[in-house]
Amino acid sequence: MTQLIEAHGGELVNRELQGAEREQALKEAEDLKVLEVNNWEISDIELIGIGGFSPLKGFMGQKDYESVVQNTRLADGTVWSVPITLSVTKDESDLYNVGEKIALKGADGVIYATLTVEEKYEATKQEEAQNVYGTTESEHPGVKKLYERGDIYIGGPITLLNRPGHGEFEDFYMDPSETRQMFKDLGWKTIVGFQTRNPVHRAHEHIQKTALEAVDGLLLNPLVGETKSDDIPADVRMESYQVILKNYYVEDRVRLVIYPAAMRYAGPKEAILHAIVRKNYGCTHFIVGRDHAGVGDYYGTYDAQKLIEQYEQELGMTIFKFEHAFYCTVCENMASAKTCPHDKENHVHLSGTKVREMLRNGERPPKEFSRPEVADVLIKGMQQV
Ligand code: ADX
Repeated sequence: MTQLIEAHGGELVNRELQGAEREQALKEAEDLKVLEVNNWEISDIELIGIGGFSPLKGFMGQKDYESVVQNTRLADGTVWSVPITLSVTKDESDLYNVGEKIALKGADGVIYATLTVEEKYEATKQEEAQNVYGTTESEHPGVKKLYERGDIYIGGPITLLNRPGHGEFEDFYMDPSETRQMFKDLGWKTIVGFQTRNPVHRAHEHIQKTALEAVDGLLLNPLVGETKSDDIPADVRMESYQVILKNYYVEDRVRLVIYPAAMRYAGPKEAILHAIVRKNYGCTHFIVGRDHAGVGDYYGTYDAQKLIEQYEQELGMTIFKFEHAFYCTVCENMASAKTCPHDKENHVHLSGTKVREMLRNGERPPKEFSRPEVADVLIKGMQQV
């Protein structure tokens, strides 16, 4: 029997009700006070419910929140890097009493979960911004979201009653217990997880395949929740992933599964969260390359690697840290500063802005940067935007 990696904190959380119990809970939930949740919160509810955020069983209470913000740990000492909180305004918070059960409902009228209100407490947003995002500037997309939220956090355990739909991505949706079963069935003992919010370009492909040389399988786990508006939309990316896997990967060595979370752009702190979640999905290894989950110039190129390294042993995963990868026209292959002795002018480098501009104009970036099949999907996708 293949022994899988333990979930973070020791046990894979399952906060979801099924069958008659769920029916009963849904009926009861109709009579509860309602708290309307947005898409970001719905994806957090889902990830708590299905165990992606194990060991969390609900939205964080004050002790966990403060401990995560100040020490990168839950109150019990377990490593955790990004607060998972439910916010309301001061006025709204008066509606809900400590001890009562409330219904978490989407704007679509679906009750996604119930939550038992254990605590109401004030967010320390400046401190949260500084310690989690590394900046208090509201231009940072994660900080901007944080500042837009209500000032009061409601903490307590949740019970998941409805998972959100994943539309056209349903075929690529699996929860952590399912990916774990899949890895067992495939006989994979070592699995490397790969987070991305971008199409897979040659540099991504290079680091994935380099990692794959050292493990049994690759979980390509693109984030498909909320991203900022200039990131390439998830539906276009999903098509591009399928094309590159079909043409350039060994079928038995990779699985494409969506990661239904919102992007926080918290750089180093988010890299830790990304690793923890992939551990819960059953990955033993995780890739952190250059500027992981970064945005603008807020983080140093290798800050995420430096931070996660401090927690690697406690996480119980191996973190594959990759140098900035590029194509070198003299080496005639993908390389990095560790492997290529040639000058910068021999390296194919394109900025994200430049690539998007080319795609929008219907131009393929060089094949050393992006596979032509991927470029074609992106060109088609960009023209529809
Ligand atoms: S993000 O989710 O981390 O923001 P992105 O798609 O940009 O997404 O990167 C996915 C992973 O590939 C990250 O671990 C990132 O550090 C790594 N990465 C991206 N481009 C390169 C590159 N040129 N060289 C090395 N690592 C890279």
